Amino acid sequence: MAEKRESIHGQWSSRWAFILAATGSAVGLGNIWKFPYITGENGGGAFVAVYLICILLIGIPIMMAEVMLGRRGRRSPINAMRHLASEEGASPHWKYLGWAGVIAGFLILSYYSVIAGWALAYIFRAASGSFVGVGAEGIGTMFGHFIGDPEALIAWHTLFMVMTMVVVARGVRGGLEAAVRFLMPGLFILLIVMVGYALNTGHFNEGLAFLFTPNFDKLTGNGLLIAMGHAFFTLSLGMGAIMVYGSYLPSKASITKTVVIIAAADTLVALLAGMAIFPIVFAYGLEPGSGPGLIFQTLPIAFGQMPGGVLFGTFFFILLLFAAWSSSISLVEPAVAWLIENHGMTRKSAAIWCGVITWFVGLGTVFSFNYLSGEEFRLFGKTFFDLLDFLTSNVMLPLGGLLIAVFSAWIMRPEDAREEMRMGYPKAFALWHFLVRYVTPIGVSVVFLRAIGAI
Ligand code: PHE
Repeated sequence: MAEKRESIHGQWSSRWAFILAATGSAVGLGNIWKFPYITGENGGGAFVAVYLICILLIGIPIMMAEVMLGRRGRRSPINAMRHLASEEGASPHWKYLGWAGVIAGFLILSYYSVIAGWALAYIFRAASGSFVGVGAEGIGTMFGHFIGDPEALIAWHTLFMVMTMVVVARGVRGGLEAAVRFLMPGLFILLIVMVGYALNTGHFNEGLAFLFTPNFDKLTGNGLLIAMGHAFFTLSLGMGAIMVYGSYLPSKASITKTVVIIAAADTLVALLAGMAIFPIVFAYGLEPGSGPGLIFQTLPIAFGQMPGGVLFGTFFFILLLFAAWSSSISLVEPAVAWLIENHGMTRKSAAIWCGVITWFVGLGTVFSFNYLSGEEFRLFGKTFFDLLDFLTSNVMLPLGGLLIAVFSAWIMRPEDAREEMRMGYPKAFALWHFLVRYVTPIGVSVVFLRAIGAI
């Protein structure tokens, strides 16, 4: 009986603990660092509209599917997929879906850690008053010098990787559960303070118009793909992070309610970040499409000018660090859980192995901003970091999500899915099943085809 299964790695203490952990995974650099800069690069409103539609029609149903598969499998994604496939009389090759997720998680963490290292460094800059009274240009130069220094970037990257592995080594409950409980609300409040500052820049409406007035002429096929890819990235979907967290979810918890809460919180944080950043961008005549440095070149200007900016700035980067931290642990958890299950490793050695490997891959990202930033080191005009980001967010995660949808709605017997979902209303199950069976696979395929110019 499915109800009797429990993961060998333990369980969340309650449904709320799961919501916190999954929100911790979802809310991260994706919301505060990435969402604003890709929105800026892709013209604003229309991009945001597509992103929101993808969250609603693709993201939420797939998140429900991942939690459902995880809870039913009660193992790491690789073993859960193998087990569920055999239960449903399907090919054991479905375990490779778990494998693809593990690889995507390593690749994402490799650059995630480098960027989280930037946030770490900026805590100290904010605290030491480095931004006080410095104008837009000075802040830009400061950032340029910073990313041009590989030694500094490596040091911060190393520190963040160690921090991540320490928490992973402590296990499901011991690590972040308590910290996230305080830090997520803190992040929320501070973002609202920043939006308050943005309100006073005199350019708030310009910022809002940029975010919410859709002009579809500005959206290319590639922009469409990036918006969809980001819906997966920001909700931590398509690679098993939510699946592995679902495997620690108590049997009674309602999957629908928890998933809706997580997706809503994640979306709200991204939109607040956008509303804090774009008014500053316009107030100081900055370029919305200036790329990955956007928040590091805008928010410090505000911290340098506002009363109490040293304090607010320091807190902001601390909270950003925590948002990144609670996401990074979920990127390796599928791999760690598998190493424990199949190789009898302890959590600690599994964490160390994963940390060392991803740390090395991360050097490629570090050098993408300095030694390897020149044209001669680019492929299709993209640096190693750009390629990695594109491959993971826009190819691997949507493809993983597509296969998760196919498995849950085409391979799995509907009665098994229905049993695990335990929805109150039969119509709700029918709606979910329809979305995962048709809307998600068709939606993802159409966006892929459009991006390569086939339609
Ligand atoms: N959702 C995280 C963010 O927005 C990133 C992430 C992706 C985490 C995939 C886990 C899995 O920052």
